[in-house]
Amino acid sequence: MPLKSTARRPRVAHTLPALHRAIAELRGRNASLALVPTMGALHDGHLSLVRLAQRRAKKVVVSIFVNPAQFAPHEDLSSYPRTWKEDVAKLTAEGVDLIWNPAAAIMYPDGFATRLAPVGPAAAGLEDRIRPHFFGGVATVVCKLFTQSRPDVAIFGEKDYQQLKVVTQMSRDLDLRVKVVGAPVVRERDGLAMSSRNVYLSPEHRAAAPVLFKVLKACAARLRAGEALAGVLRDGTSEVTNAGFALDYLEARHAETLAPVAASSEGPMRLLIAARIGSTRLIDNVKV
Ligand code: PAF
Repeated sequence: MPLKSTARRPRVAHTLPALHRAIAELRGRNASLALVPTMGALHDGHLSLVRLAQRRAKKVVVSIFVNPAQFAPHEDLSSYPRTWKEDVAKLTAEGVDLIWNPAAAIMYPDGFATRLAPVGPAAAGLEDRIRPHFFGGVATVVCKLFTQSRPDVAIFGEKDYQQLKVVTQMSRDLDLRVKVVGAPVVRERDGLAMSSRNVYLSPEHRAAAPVLFKVLKACAARLRAGEALAGVLRDGTSEVTNAGFALDYLEARHAETLAPVAASSEGPMRLLIAARIGSTRLIDNVKV
């Protein structure tokens, strides 16, 4: 017989007054608060963010909001996976305190007319080159999530490495007083980075997908061994393209500033990749 779960369903807030009431109660006598911003369709990668949040603060709020402002008109806003019931069950099992789930009209009411325009890491020539609308939408919603819930700390996955740098910079620049913490990429057994969009992959494309991590690891090992960047990236590019991907970029960047680097002697290096297979776009990165 299955064990009956004793975990309590988290409170769910759909409106700002409900969110503020719930947060005031959770905070009580100054309990620390962590926020995990998500767009739902939760997988083990998200749950690892929740567990890190629980280690960093007494109370944890998870936001679930598919943010229209970060999708271009041709992108997958309408088909983006929405799995509310399963998400609530997973967050219940993790012992999350509160779910913040506003409708788009609460986040962006009629007449809403302000959008952040981040530069610095948001203009590094990586995701922003392919998805120019993306970081303005992310920075705007994350800024709103921070000011709505006023957490002490917020957890973001390193899988979206450029996004992590953008929100870190934004929180600092706007004096939001939220400590942004990055969490390591969580992978499937074959190395594919977990992502809500992996469900789009056909069986054939799913079988090819781990090549991205394999190539990143191989390139990082060769760079650590002192090989020249150009040859390493050239070989990595061929392997990814031969596996059936259309490559958006495979680049070595400074791990903090995201500026282009030619050798690991120029500072801590991160290798970042984005590639499309069929209609699915995957991103990944590794430390060198
Ligand atoms: O990484 C995501 O899921 C989203 O970009 C975020 C940070 C929740 C903002 O909508």
